[in-house]
Amino acid sequence: MKTSNYVLILDYGSQYTQLIARRVREARVYSEIHPFDRGLEVARRNRPGAIILSGGPASIYKERSPRLDPELIEMQVPLLGICYGLQAIAHTLGGVVQAAPEREYGRAALTGIRPDSVLLQGITEGAQVWMSHGDKVVRLPEKFRISASTSDAEAAAFESEDQRITGVQFHPEVAHTPQGATVIRNFLFRIAQLKPDWTMASFIDSTVLEVRERVGQDRVVAALSGGVDSSVMVALLHRAIGDQLHPVFVNNGLLRKNEAAEVLGAFQKLGIKLDYVDASRRFLQKLAGVTDPEQKRKIIGEEFIRVFEEEAERIPRVKFLAQGTLYPDVIESVSAKGGPSSTIKSHHNVGGLPETMRLELIEPLRELFKDEVRELGAQLGLPDEIVWRHPFPGPGLAVRILGEVNEEKIAVLQEADAIAMSEIRIAGLYRGIWQAFVVLLPVQSVGVMGDERTYEYVAALRAVDARDGMTADWSRIPHEVLSRISNRIINEVRGINRVVYDISSKPPSTIEWE
Ligand code: XMP
Repeated sequence: MKTSNYVLILDYGSQYTQLIARRVREARVYSEIHPFDRGLEVARRNRPGAIILSGGPASIYKERSPRLDPELIEMQVPLLGICYGLQAIAHTLGGVVQAAPEREYGRAALTGIRPDSVLLQGITEGAQVWMSHGDKVVRLPEKFRISASTSDAEAAAFESEDQRITGVQFHPEVAHTPQGATVIRNFLFRIAQLKPDWTMASFIDSTVLEVRERVGQDRVVAALSGGVDSSVMVALLHRAIGDQLHPVFVNNGLLRKNEAAEVLGAFQKLGIKLDYVDASRRFLQKLAGVTDPEQKRKIIGEEFIRVFEEEAERIPRVKFLAQGTLYPDVIESVSAKGGPSSTIKSHHNVGGLPETMRLELIEPLRELFKDEVRELGAQLGLPDEIVWRHPFPGPGLAVRILGEVNEEKIAVLQEADAIAMSEIRIAGLYRGIWQAFVVLLPVQSVGVMGDERTYEYVAALRAVDARDGMTADWSRIPHEVLSRISNRIINEVRGINRVVYDISSKPPSTIEWE
C-alpha cells in the first residue's frame, strides 16, 4: 500500500494532543489531528505513513470508552500509542488493562530499557519521563514484549515483536520528558521510515501553487490588522498572487502609538501595496458618549464591517476573502470525557463578512500552529516587531480606556503604553510575556508634583503569562522594571499621576479589563 509522508494523530481527549502534533512537526514531518472515531475514515482516505494515538481521560475497560478500531491495526501502518493510546492497543489486541492501586502522576525514571528496542534507541537508562495515568497494562497482548519499566508501571513501554506497533505509558510530548523528542524521532524515522520534508520553505512553495491555481485571474481581498496572523497571511498571499491581493488596513483610531506607521512601513519595505483607510474620525464619532463595554465592541465591529465593505466594493472582480485562521481554530476537539461525540470549535472570522459579501474564503494558515506562523513570517521577511507582536484585540484601545473614549484619553494611553512596552523590551522580557499593556482607568486620584497638588488619572499595567489566552497568570515582572515603568509614566505622561500593577489571574478575571 502506498502511504503518504504524514502522521495521523488520533485524539482521545488528552490535553496534550496538540503538543504531539507540534513535536512531530518540529521533527519536520507533517501531522494532522483527528477525533479517534474518524480514524479509519481518515486513514483510508489519506493513507498516513504512521499513526499516533493520544492519551485521554477515559478507562478503556469501561463500556462506553473510546475505542481503537481493529481495522486500523490491520492496515499495518506503524502505530505508537501514548498513555491511553498504549492501553487502547493492549486492550484491542487481547491484553489486560486495569485500574492501578494508585494514580501515577509526575516524574519517573525509565529502567530496564531493552537494548534492541528501536523506539527507545539512544534513551539513557534511568531517563526522566512524565507520567499521568490511573490505569495500567497488566498483561501484554500475544507477541508483545516490555521495552522499559518504571517503579509503578512494569509496562512503561511495549512493542510488538516486529516493533511496528509500539506504546509508551509516559508522555514523550511534554517538556518534563527531556528525551521525549528522541522517542518521537525514533518512531518517525527508524520505525515508520518517514522523511523530514515538512519545512516552511516547502510549505511556502506548495501553498503558493495551490493559491495561484485556485484564484486564477480573480482578486482576493483581506483585512490586515497588523497582528501576526493577518500580516503573515498577507505576505504569503502576496508572494502567490502579487497585486491580485488587496489588503485593506483600517485605522480605527484605536491603535497603539505609531502602530499604523509601523505597519505601513513594514509592508512598504516588502513591496506590498496596502489599501490604507484612516477612519479614525468615523469611529470616534460613533463612540462619543458610549460607556458600556459591550456597546463599544458592537459599534466598533459594525463600523469596521461597513468601512471594509465600502473598500472592497471599489475593487473590481473580487471573488475571495482571505482570513488568517490557524490550526487550533480548525481542529475538531474530542469532548473532555473522551466520549464519542466530538464538537467543532467555532471559527474565528471577521464578523459576518463572508455572508454579506458572498465571497469564497481563503485560509492559507489553517494548517499552522502559532509558532509555525511566526517562523513563516520571518521567512517571508516580516520584521521581528510584527512577527513577535503581542496579541491585540480588534476593538483596540477602546476596551483599555474604561468608560468613554475620546481623542485626549487615547493620546494619554498611547504614551503610557509605549513607555511600558519600551521598558519591557529593554529588560528583555517582551517575548517571554504573552501579552502586556496599559489600561486607563476612569478614576482620578490626588498626587503631588513639585509643590503642587495634582488630581489625575490612574493607569494600570497588565502583563500576563499564558499559552493561548484561555487561561493566564500575571507575569512576575521584577520590581525594578515595574519601578522604572511607573516612574517614567508618571514623569513623562501628562494626565497620569499613579500607576498600579494588575495581579489577577484568568479565571476569574479576564486579560482585558473590558
Ligand atoms: P480576555 O480579556 O477575554 O482576552 O481574557 C483573551 C484574549 O483575547 C483578546 N481579545 C480580543 N481579541 N477581539 C479580538 O480580536 C476582541 O474583541 C477581543 N477581546 C479580547 C485579548 O486581548 C486577549 O489576548
